Order: sequence, then C-alpha cells, then structure tokens
Amino acid sequence: MIFARNPTIATPFVAPLFTLLLSVVSVTAENHVSRVGDIPEIGLGTWLSDRKKVAHAVEYALDSGYNHIDAALIYRNEDQTGKGIALAGVNREDIWVTSKLWNEHHRPDQVEAAITKSISDLGVDYLDLYLMHWPVAFVPGEGTKIDEETSIFDTWRAMEDLVRANLTRTIGISNFAKKDVEDILDMCNICPYAHEFETHPYLQQQDFVDFHKEVGIKVIAYSPLANTNPTYHSGLKPILQDSFWKYMADKKEATVPQVVLAWGLQRGTVVIPKSVHEQYIKENLEALDIKLTEDDMKAIAEQDKKTRMNDPGKSWGVKLFADLDDPTDLDENAKGKEL
Ligand SMILES: NC(=O)c1ccc[n+]([C@@H]2O[C@H](COP(=O)([O-])OP(=O)(O)OC[C@H]3O[C@@H](n4cnc5c(N)ncnc54)[C@H](OP(=O)(O)O)[C@@H]3O)[C@@H](O)[C@H]2O)c1
Repeated sequence: MIFARNPTIATPFVAPLFTLLLSVVSVTAENHVSRVGDIPEIGLGTWLSDRKKVAHAVEYALDSGYNHIDAALIYRNEDQTGKGIALAGVNREDIWVTSKLWNEHHRPDQVEAAITKSISDLGVDYLDLYLMHWPVAFVPGEGTKIDEETSIFDTWRAMEDLVRANLTRTIGISNFAKKDVEDILDMCNICPYAHEFETHPYLQQQDFVDFHKEVGIKVIAYSPLANTNPTYHSGLKPILQDSFWKYMADKKEATVPQVVLAWGLQRGTVVIPKSVHEQYIKENLEALDIKLTEDDMKAIAEQDKKTRMNDPGKSWGVKLFADLDDPTDLDENAKGKEL
C-alpha cells in the first residue's frame, strides 16, 4: 500500500483554506512508501540507552514485534540505534522512526543539516516524525546560552520545509506549554502531527491530553513508567513499589510496568518505554493485551501526584510548562537537572 501523505496527517489542525491548499499540494508532491500508517501505539525509547547495548535492544525489539523507535540526536547513540535497525533487517516501510531537533540547531539555516545527520546516523532515508525537542533555542556553540533571536516560529517554518523536502513524513513538538501549542497552531501551514511530553500515572495531565485530542494532535507519552528512569529524583516512592499499582498488577495477573503502560494506551496516548533488557522489552509489549475497566480507570485517575520528573528549565534559566501541572520554579533548588 502506498502511504499518500494525507493532508489530515500533515495538517491535523484546521488551517486557513489558502494555506491548507498550499500544504496539500506540497505534501503530496512525492510519497514515501509506508505500511505503518499512523504512529504505532507502543515504541522503544532510547534516551540513556548505553551505546554498547542499544543496537541489540533495538534489534531485539524489532524482531519481537515493535515497529516504532524513539530516537534523538542529543541521546548521542543514534548511530548505534541505526545499527540495531539494520541488524533487524526489517523493511523501512514497516517501521516508524522518530528523531528530534536539538536546541542548538533551531536557527533556520541549521535545521536541514541537523535532520540530515540524524537520518544518516539512523541509516534511514527519511524519518516518520521529526520533533522540535524543546521550545528553547541555544546559541550554536555556546552551551546552553539562550538564543533570544530565534523564535519557535522561525524554527517551525524551517521544519515545515523538511516535510516539503521529503526528509520526514511528519513534524511535531515536544515539551511545549499549552500556550506554545496554541501559538504554533495559529501560524502553521503544516501543523504538528504529534506532541511528545512527559505524562504517566504520577503526572497525568488529563486536560492537556484531552486538549490534544480536540485539536487533532497525537500525544506521545514519554517516561511512561514515571520515576522508573534512574536519573529521576522526585521524592515519590518508585512506582514499581507503589502498593496501589502492585494491587492493580495482581488483579490483572500482570507486572506493574505492564499495567501502567496499559493505562497509557487505554487513555489514547502512544507510549515509548525505554529498556536495554530483553525481558523488559518483551514484557512491555505485552501491555497491549491488558484491558482496564472503567472503574480501574477512575481509581487510577485518583492516583495522580501532579509531579514532574524531567525539567531542565531551571538549569537553562527558562520557565517551562508555565500553564501546566508542576511548572519550572526558577527559585527552587532541587530541580532542573534532566534533559
Ligand atoms: N521528548 C523528550 O524530551 C523526552 C524526554 C524523556 C524521555 N523521552 C523518550 O521517552 C523514552 C522513555 O522515557 P524514559 O527513558 O525517561 O523512562 P521510562 O521508559 O519510563 O523508564 C525507563 C526505565 O525503566 C526501566 N524499565 C523499562 N521497562 C521495565 C520493566 N518492564 N520492568 C522494570 N524496569 C523497566 C528501564 O530499565 P533498563 O533500561 O535498565 O532496561 C529504565 O531504567 C526515552 O527513552 C526517550 O526515548 C523523550
């Protein structure tokens, strides 16, 4: 089946008629063959995956039934991730590959070189999704110094050109506040296909998830296992030891990660658990077989801790997630260390 770049994929939000027509013409000019269609609901994460282990993890995942890999240039392992894709020997058109534009490549004249590097390292001809990793631009070559000259709109326009150039099938955003999303929707010609942000049982953000459904942007839930990522220090009990989740797991004759992921899937989010262990990779995929009842879903909603794990805003001196649960507190000492 040929995947025609349907304008509903590239432009899920209602754009003015003139701009919509323009994008229809440009995005259907040339097609990549894909048998995946929409983003697969479960993918393998690769942040902090050891360079020596990630190739095998990716190969094993693809051999076990995954067809979606979440990568990023800043993870510094895309070449090894690409090695895993190559080892698995899958057809390119049967998998979904996401990568992300790092903050120091936001200037419009840097965007194409950045995606080209990711495409080359991953060993693919094109991406399925390319995300603006953070709504924050750094001055190239000057560490985390904020580039006040480059707006998210400048960067977004350059990312639209990547779709027109057939370097990626779709584009999207990551870690945006609601106001940032609305601002992008107001100006986009090719609008975000997906928004990847932190959401899990301890940071449910149900209103924000619902908002994306209303405007036609898919939600990719990162860190879906909450504080299981060992770099997170929230002060909350590890979710794998949480008595509520242990009870839910026993009830479903499953593991805690499986039930947590099943909840993420059932609320309509795409989940991208990371692991470099065969057992966990396989176990996580089996979350697809678990069904939660309406009563289960209600009980889980009451477990929200509204606690964010990943907030580099303080170390960058930027207030992130301003209109969301647990925004960056620029006066707080304990936060702001993650990516
Ligand atoms: N867009 C963004 O800004 C952003 C930010 C953060 C994350 N992400 C993406 O989201 C992905 C997932 O998030 P994450 O890596 O932060 O956290 P996560 O997937 O929620 O948790 C990963 C941790 O859980 C462990 N684990 C996985 N499955 C397990 C299981 N069945 N039983 C026990 N432990 C298990 C992993 O162990 P092992 O690895 O040791 O096997 C790893 O330590 C990332 O890898 C990345 O691709 C994106």
